[in-house]
Amino acid sequence: MTIRTILASLVICTLLPVAAFAQGTILVAGATGQSGRLIVTALLEKGFTVRAMSRSAERAASLGEGVEPAVADVTDPSSLSNSMDGVDAVLSAIGGRRPIGSNGFEAVDWEGNRALIDAAKAAGVKRFLVITAGSAGRDGFIYTLPFGPYPWKAKAETYLRESGLDYTIVGPGGLRDEPAGRYGVLLTPRSDYVPGPINRGDVAEVMVASLLDDSTIGKTITMVNDITLVPDAWRAELSAFPLD
Ligand SMILES: NC(=O)c1ccc[n+]([C@@H]2O[C@H](COP(=O)([O-])OP(=O)(O)OC[C@H]3O[C@@H](n4cnc5c(N)ncnc54)[C@H](OP(=O)(O)O)[C@@H]3O)[C@@H](O)[C@H]2O)c1
Repeated sequence: MTIRTILASLVICTLLPVAAFAQGTILVAGATGQSGRLIVTALLEKGFTVRAMSRSAERAASLGEGVEPAVADVTDPSSLSNSMDGVDAVLSAIGGRRPIGSNGFEAVDWEGNRALIDAAKAAGVKRFLVITAGSAGRDGFIYTLPFGPYPWKAKAETYLRESGLDYTIVGPGGLRDEPAGRYGVLLTPRSDYVPGPINRGDVAEVMVASLLDDSTIGKTITMVNDITLVPDAWRAELSAFPLD
């Protein structure tokens, strides 16, 4: 091997994206949702193996051939253990759509996330990231929707913080169905959170960037779009973002 070949190899290695070195199987709970689908795509782009949880085999299969389907229901904790085999991290993007009922906010956003956290611990999965909401657990926040998801998401956050898992909590503002990178993103601790809209694509990017960055362990990151900020500038802020 000539010096020129060695130098060329070094340059190529340096320029390769993180994807080339990222390994592991990530369980995405809520993979079929509007945010979950974007997370799945972002993980595949980084070279991860993705296991996609859904209550429906058809919906899980709709994510494409490169994705391992995992049929499970978070309201039935006994259905979760098989999904955890060989998993390196769990990303939860589940959410109920109804205030009450067997698949309402309490059952999914609180008890469902609790069941996922318990199943991860039982399977020896150490890393757990979850999407909650910017307004969940805000000090002094008067919940404008008495039957909204925020109190249940706040309970899930507390449970995760006390679980002993390596956690990251991402609390977005109001979700818009738009791709990443269109606007700047303001990342703040919960105490500084001011409600606003956020594009689902940006939420997916923050989730995956947090997975790739162990400095985000132990952090609760709320986020909204901010048109005065440079898109992608948030990436340089993750490591200095304060711990809980
Ligand atoms: N909408 C907003 O403005 C807003 C704001 C802040 C935070 N959030 C939160 O952001 C997250 C993502 O929201 P989204 O609108 O992108 O989600 P979404 O489209 O409503 O998708 C919800 C996901 O949850 C899964 N799910 C629901 N019940 C389940 C169960 N019993 N077992 C297993 N999976 C279950 C669904 O999977 P299957 O149906 O395939 O089983 C689906 O993949 C949610 O936690 C949401 O509460 C939303």
